[in-house]
Amino acid sequence: MVRSPVKAHVLCLQGSLGVPSRTAVLLELVARLLQRQGATTETVDMRDVSLPQVDPRYHGAPEDNPAPAVGGFLAKVRAADAMVWASPVYHNSYSGALKNAIDHLSIADVRDKPLALCGNGGRRASVQATDHLRIVARSLHGIAVPLGVTTANGDYAREGDDFRIRETEVVQRSAAMCDQLLDYVEKFRTAPEVPTRAPAVGRT
Ligand SMILES: Cc1cc2nc3c(=O)[nH]c(=O)nc-3n(C[C@H](O)[C@H](O)[C@H](O)COP(=O)(O)O)c2cc1C
Repeated sequence: MVRSPVKAHVLCLQGSLGVPSRTAVLLELVARLLQRQGATTETVDMRDVSLPQVDPRYHGAPEDNPAPAVGGFLAKVRAADAMVWASPVYHNSYSGALKNAIDHLSIADVRDKPLALCGNGGRRASVQATDHLRIVARSLHGIAVPLGVTTANGDYAREGDDFRIRETEVVQRSAAMCDQLLDYVEKFRTAPEVPTRAPAVGRT
């Protein structure tokens, strides 16, 4: 089914520090697929940003952090309707660089934002990084969509200075994940506000 273009701005966080990086190549594919559906995308690549270590003094109010890199990062997150978090598997989890970036955020920055999770393992496609990110998403009240994409090194071929994806299944799965992410953007955009307190009916 061909869907009408989705107006959404998606921020993609690239968590690998490798050069070249399979995770980065996977995220480029995801960004292209989202754009094909009408979304705009921007990528924050952990190889390029120099975010300071998270400063607990600004926990819950990261906008008070005077570091310009933090302010710039927050502005991008706040402007996004949805995010993609992508990471390689580092010691059975996601990368510390991505963790540090996410630790700069507060619940208000992520609450109700649909998030797609993807990444690359070493010898086997493993869900450890994305599963751990799913728990992190929950702590920030983000909505991690059910479909994710996990690849293994063997899904890529070296091509000059970079990698290329050689498995069509990765492309198909990524397309399905992007579809679901944009579906969630639309669903949650139109969802009626849920009252945060019980109505005062019956109270005296
Ligand atoms: C610090 C570090 C820890 C790693 N730990 C694991 C691991 O626990 N399991 C695994 O399968 N691969 C592990 N790897 C291998 C990476 O997941 C693998 O090289 C992956 O392709 C990196 O993605 P990239 O090409 O996007 O950098 C580790 C790599 C690094 C640098």
